[in-house]
Amino acid sequence: MDLQSRFSPELYSRKGEIRMGFEFSERVKQIPPYIFFEIEKILEEKKRAGVDIISLSIGDPDLPAPRFILEALAKEAAKPENHGYSNSRGEREFREAVAWWMKERFGVTVDPEREITALIGSKEGISHLTRAFVNPGEKVIIPDPGYPAYLNGGALLNDAQPLFMPLERENHFLPDVDFIASSKARILYVNYPNNPTGAVADKWILRELVEVARDNKIIICYDNAYSEITYQGYKAPSILEVEGAMETAVELHSFSKTFSMAGDRIGFAVGNNSLIEGIVKVKSQMDSGQPKYIQHAAAQALRTYRNGEPPEEVRNNIATYWERVKFLAKSLGEIGFECEVPKATYYVWAYCGGNSMETARKLLDIGVAVTPGIGFGKHGEGFLRFSATRPINDIMEACNRLAKLRNILH
Ligand SMILES: Cc1ncc(COP(=O)(O)O)c(C=O)c1O
Repeated sequence: MDLQSRFSPELYSRKGEIRMGFEFSERVKQIPPYIFFEIEKILEEKKRAGVDIISLSIGDPDLPAPRFILEALAKEAAKPENHGYSNSRGEREFREAVAWWMKERFGVTVDPEREITALIGSKEGISHLTRAFVNPGEKVIIPDPGYPAYLNGGALLNDAQPLFMPLERENHFLPDVDFIASSKARILYVNYPNNPTGAVADKWILRELVEVARDNKIIICYDNAYSEITYQGYKAPSILEVEGAMETAVELHSFSKTFSMAGDRIGFAVGNNSLIEGIVKVKSQMDSGQPKYIQHAAAQALRTYRNGEPPEEVRNNIATYWERVKFLAKSLGEIGFECEVPKATYYVWAYCGGNSMETARKLLDIGVAVTPGIGFGKHGEGFLRFSATRPINDIMEACNRLAKLRNILH
């Protein structure tokens, strides 16, 4: 009998073979399969079977991080002093760079000591906020369709009750203020520029959100992960530009999209002091901070902004995304999908009606992977999300393949 089977007799037989697994907690059992993983799994199987697939499904930037960031990462990683623990709130230098950037980019003044925390990617902020401020059974508003982490990491893993707020096409996928006012929710997750719809929210909408949140004592979690991936002169606002937002909101930012640093896992939360303290309190029991060298390189990346504009390498990446989404939306329209060229994000949200999972499977059969709208919530049904995170030639070839499928569109 080996060591494992002696110490875990229910799990291992006398011969050391695994006998049974452990049951997930009720909390984890509620989590639906992550649709991206499902699609990736089918994709891997198809690839293994030799099928040539163009993947427009996952929103992982394919364009490289600017060279100056790669060099800064290497230089900072080579310093021995950058390999000790950081702290959960983040290095002072990083938070000062964030405060500088919030002023430079949005004209917003924040205190690096009290109103900012580093995050290991903005995703963790989504979950930690609910954990810090919502008791079991209390409601949190989840946009539907929406980025799945609001429901899963935000609500379900924290025993909160999800309250789905439909984002309707007729309403340009914008939040419903009356719904929020009558919700009795503790937290409102809101995300513009929006994944998956590509919708944007102008400042008057943010003003309405702040007003309704203040009147009803609701915390706003404003996920601004795509604030920099915008086109044709459109500039995404920060909710913190709105008067009174500091009383009720925390905003999340990510380096994943702007600087193509998705795997480096770095982001930050900025906003109301007590909300930041809550996130930091949870974080301090779960992580020991982002690696210092990543924070230092990320701080240098922020400081490359001039007059509110990103550096040339980032501007070039954004221009490339623009060419792709423009081509993609135009081609999909010609094929028979209903969609618009987005003002921001690298997603094209296309309506084709019917069962989106079934349509996505049919598309896989002709070598194109996309994400079915149902993966983003009930109100995503009938839509497909195309991610322009492949070179233009791949997107053109994907559109050629799709053109043959006109007849499957409802
Ligand atoms: C809306 C939205 N928020 C947050 C994230 C997570 O970003 P990060 O890599 O910073 O955790 C994503 C990633 O796809 C996203 O689409």
